[in-house]
Amino acid sequence: MQNTVKKAIFPVAGLGTRFLPATKSIPKEIMTLVDRPLIQYAVDEAHAAGIEEFIFVTSRGKGALEDHFDRAPELEATLERKGKTGLLEALRSTNLDSGAIATVRQRQALGLGHAVWCARHLIGDEPFAVLLPDDVIAADTPCLRQMAEAHAETGGNMMAAMEVAPDQASSYGILDVPLGMSPTLPVTGMVEKPAPGTQPSNLAVIGRYILTPRVMHHLGEIAPGAGGEIQLTDAIAREIEVTGNVYGYRFRGERFDCGSKAGFLRATLAFGLARDDLGDALEDYMYQLIAQRRAAE
Ligand code: UTP
Repeated sequence: MQNTVKKAIFPVAGLGTRFLPATKSIPKEIMTLVDRPLIQYAVDEAHAAGIEEFIFVTSRGKGALEDHFDRAPELEATLERKGKTGLLEALRSTNLDSGAIATVRQRQALGLGHAVWCARHLIGDEPFAVLLPDDVIAADTPCLRQMAEAHAETGGNMMAAMEVAPDQASSYGILDVPLGMSPTLPVTGMVEKPAPGTQPSNLAVIGRYILTPRVMHHLGEIAPGAGGEIQLTDAIAREIEVTGNVYGYRFRGERFDCGSKAGFLRATLAFGLARDDLGDALEDYMYQLIAQRRAAE
């Protein structure tokens, strides 16, 4: 794979209000699915796509996110002394090299687009990926890698897209794309949260992007959109108008919306069931719980 995308932005400066009070003192992105924090799923996915520079856009109280990828010498020494090699390996797999992570601060939560724009000086004149850690994607080939492979053919800008039921479309940005089965589709327009029945397709944008520096430039120029926030989709919409060099990528895999409680619970069950060491016992327990609920009805 000829991957030209080496930098990824992880916007992690949001307030995470949907998980209050949990997120009063811990970042949403450090919440764990089984035993790994959400941010780690995103960083591992980026790594698998050939990303070498990991840029976190952070805010007050998000220090745990950086610490998670740092060395933990005391912990490592203890595990080594006790011969706990499996745990030691799991711990070391979280270490990122010195200089691989950079952080920039978003001083106020002015929206996803603004968060991405905060990283402009670290991106410079290169294409870059954006991964939203609260979208967790289970896939045989990690989603960003699938996109990077497709992007090596198309260049330009790319957004991960998935099919949604018609009654769900009004919760997403929906792509205007030609009908077809190809995974890579040229985008001619995009509608943010369309009114029921007006969606141009059933393809919704989710939190994985590969973008050109031009989109960063648009972010610096556009006015705040919905909710007074600077929207990433507005900057991409401008790029559709100006160059038309924007693609939707229908990835293979299942996406979990871990920014919502229902999505987070589903992901916890799915990832738990998929684990060799936990799956069978969890499945038994789920059957037992369901039987108890049915009996009580
Ligand atoms: P969300 O839309 O889920 O917002 O952001 P949020 O603040 O995290 O959560 P709620 O809606 O209050 O519960 C999607 C991603 O964009 C980041 C978030 O950290 C999350 O990873 N984000 C959002 C920022 O970095 N800055 C912002 O101003 C807004």
